[in-house]
Amino acid sequence: MTSNPRPLVAGNWKMHGLLASIGEIEAVAAGYDAELRARAELVVCPPATLLALARPIAADVGLGGQDCHDEESGAHTGDISARMLADAGATYVIVGHSERRAAYGESDALVRAKAEAASRAGLTPIVCVGETRFDREAGRAVEIVGRQVDGSVPWSAPPERLVIAYEPVWAIGTGLTPTPRDVADMHGAIRARLETGFGAGNGGATRILYGGSVKPANAAELLRAPDVDGALVGGASLKAADFLGIAGAYR
Ligand code: PGA
Repeated sequence: MTSNPRPLVAGNWKMHGLLASIGEIEAVAAGYDAELRARAELVVCPPATLLALARPIAADVGLGGQDCHDEESGAHTGDISARMLADAGATYVIVGHSERRAAYGESDALVRAKAEAASRAGLTPIVCVGETRFDREAGRAVEIVGRQVDGSVPWSAPPERLVIAYEPVWAIGTGLTPTPRDVADMHGAIRARLETGFGAGNGGATRILYGGSVKPANAAELLRAPDVDGALVGGASLKAADFLGIAGAYR
């Protein structure tokens, strides 16, 4: 259980989306009716190039970035700061996605520094963690994810201004998902770490999302699992109808 009022369904567009894709955000906003607004918070994380354009049409749909630098400004060609994302209309930012951990060797310490930078800029970081297939088959999933949580979470941030996304690497973009039981077990283990890190009674304020091949067809089953406070959706967030279909699990 979480003490946060609403679960969060966040869409991670990754490196997809041109100007013409703004219409999908408009369609999400149009389908985000009063009933759904009362039951779930919706956020879209498009490429940073679209944030400022999306802002006036996103209405009650929140916006997020997909990564940020750990410094506020400076000589970092090609990078983007949390403050720039906030300035463009974001209120969230994904940090430590497994694709960045793998492609750029991002360590837990760097992910934490990025999450802290996000908090300083007034953004809520969505800190991603998740085990590889190798880790799971070796029976080390809980241990690996626990270590990532310990090392990546910005413990100085208020727990309610933090989101964790549990995304098993082997489930991302593959159509494979853990069983709801496995998801519940992992979220329970993450919750226990949060209770230890933030102090007993405080870990419940952090929302823990499940991510990896969430689709309209499996959303209800995965999102109903204990300790699941929402979803981080990749491929199925690119089409408004699918994204709204997933969020519709909360209706
Ligand atoms: P997927 O991606 O929904 O396409 O599996 C999830 C993610 O990487 O955040």
